[in-house]
Amino acid sequence: MHIAIIGTGYVGLVTGACFAEFGVNVTCVDKDESKIKKLQEGIPTIYEPGLEVLLSKGRREGRLSFTTNLKEAVQKSLVIFIAVGTPPRETGAADLSQVEEVAAEIGKYLNGYKVVVTKSTVPAGTGALVKRIISENCSEEFRFSVASNPEFLREGAAIEDFMHPDRIVIGCGDPEGVAIMKDLYSPLYLIDIPFVITSVETAELIKYASNAFLATKISFINEIAMLCDRVGCDVYDVARAMGLDKRIGPEFLHPGPGYGGSCFPKDTRALVHLAANYECDLKIVKAVTEVNDRQRDLMLEKVKQMLGEPVGKTVAVLGLAFKPNTDDIRESPAIYIVRKLVDLGVKVRASDPASIDEAKKLFPEVDFCTDAYETAQGADLLVFLTEWNQYRKLDLEKLKSVMAQPAIADLRNIYDPNLIRKSGFKYVGVGRTCSF
Ligand code: UDX
Repeated sequence: MHIAIIGTGYVGLVTGACFAEFGVNVTCVDKDESKIKKLQEGIPTIYEPGLEVLLSKGRREGRLSFTTNLKEAVQKSLVIFIAVGTPPRETGAADLSQVEEVAAEIGKYLNGYKVVVTKSTVPAGTGALVKRIISENCSEEFRFSVASNPEFLREGAAIEDFMHPDRIVIGCGDPEGVAIMKDLYSPLYLIDIPFVITSVETAELIKYASNAFLATKISFINEIAMLCDRVGCDVYDVARAMGLDKRIGPEFLHPGPGYGGSCFPKDTRALVHLAANYECDLKIVKAVTEVNDRQRDLMLEKVKQMLGEPVGKTVAVLGLAFKPNTDDIRESPAIYIVRKLVDLGVKVRASDPASIDEAKKLFPEVDFCTDAYETAQGADLLVFLTEWNQYRKLDLEKLKSVMAQPAIADLRNIYDPNLIRKSGFKYVGVGRTCSF
């Protein structure tokens, strides 16, 4: 089978590389010539563990190619994935202009039956819009199916998530399209991954509902952590005991500075907006976004309290990415907190194993360092903002010897509070004020 993936952003590139690994012939298309040139030379345009190997294997074995020629890619493919961006508009609604533009081009170049699949996260009803645009732009009467096949890939674990998903969701109104999609995913079908076959609209909503629910778990535990701080409880024990209840489950109950990244903040807002269009007030999801915004400010308050008078003080920040194993700083709470500290007149030193290049563009006034000890040099406070593995077992004595004052704000709860305090540090975590 030959397929085309339009858009070589995060989702498009991972999807293309993984389908090529399944043995499918894949053409990835993008209008950004510089991106395509890099990919043709085997240079990954995003940071994702394991991707480089898959890209070079797919290219070497002739199943994966990159082009700016959308017409050619569409015409030789049976399945066409739309994986372009759906950034938020000012109102929070998803901006579908790139999806619409691609749908029009697909319509123009249609030369036979195809399945056109939206992989981008899109509001319920977008499949119908894609169908209409393709029909309007198609000069001859070609049959085509429209499908929705949302992705559930976590950055940093995207290849693992693609190869071993919890489920595959296929929204498609006609049996021919469903059969082709099942055939495309047959390597996963054969290893008993559950398939959920639904209408296009339902599949579109499943994606938003899933992300909103995960975001809800995070905001919930962040609120409980706030209460733990006031009452003097340990949120770690609360979350663990809650998670042992099978109906709740242990995942996504880690408190921190709030969720960030390219999905949760955007998708929760887009869902609220979509619901409002149907005169539905999604009170829970709305509250989830408010709690997430507040969480970043609560964390900033913790830092300010530890620091005292901010002017003239030095803060060492470890971790800038919105989570570990990615260089992505989009909507990263770390970036928000660094910005506020800089504005308060604090001297910030920072490091991150992957995202320094991007962060440098935002903060000319920050001193970027290569490792934790260099970052901590002369600092009045060390703040953990991303839980990279390399920060989990730092030499506390060495840290103490290089810092101006031994103080840690562990905003990802990566250290045992009692152990840190015993080592002579002033310590604050998230929901872990209790010491016994
Ligand atoms: C998410 C979804 O997990 C994925 O299924 C979807 O398709 C895309 O969005 P991603 O944004 O890559 O993936 O990151 P994820 O690992 O889900 O984390 C999102 C944010 O939540 C991060 O900022 C992370 O630090 C935060 N988080 C996660 C918590 O604060 N606590 C948790 O317990 C889990």
